[in-house]
Amino acid sequence: MQNIILIGFMGCGKSTLGKKLAFKLDFEFIDSDQEIEKIEGKTITEIFEQHGEAYFRNLEKQYLEKIQHKQNMVLATGGGLPCFNKNIEFLNHFGITIYLKLSPTELTKRILHSKAQRPLIKSNNEEEVYLLVKKMLFERETFYHEAKHILNGKQQKVKFVQELLSE
Ligand code: S3P
Repeated sequence: MQNIILIGFMGCGKSTLGKKLAFKLDFEFIDSDQEIEKIEGKTITEIFEQHGEAYFRNLEKQYLEKIQHKQNMVLATGGGLPCFNKNIEFLNHFGITIYLKLSPTELTKRILHSKAQRPLIKSNNEEEVYLLVKKMLFERETFYHEAKHILNGKQQKVKFVQELLSE
């Protein structure tokens, strides 16, 4: 009985890998942002615009409390979730945490392609986005590095998790 928890900055590929893993492992896949959108009946952008970031962080915390008894699931968290309200401690008790680590350059490229649904990234200017990503990543990596495992861009991620679970 296990849970796999994918954490990391916006654009690092948590949801894409999460879906693949859940399929291979026959686990349930949960994306915290999508679940919060369903509960609130609003998009993440609308939640940020109408209620602000502190309100959203509280929703993330409440959502973790709601799923705390679940098992055999792959959870892809929102990029900021592990960095607020001691959530990383909760996640480390809840399952095997994996940080998907990418460089600010790589993250910037990916974020620029999918900026629309990311309220924290307001600029379209690549240089500005890069500087923001670098700054936020610097602030957040203390939390991300508390994950049990760190996977970088080039590693065979599905294989890694399968081997981890068969140990
Ligand atoms: C956020 C990341 C987003 C979403 C929200 C805030 C963040 O999730 O939760 O826009 O603070 O990094 P993704 O990492 O899935 O983009």
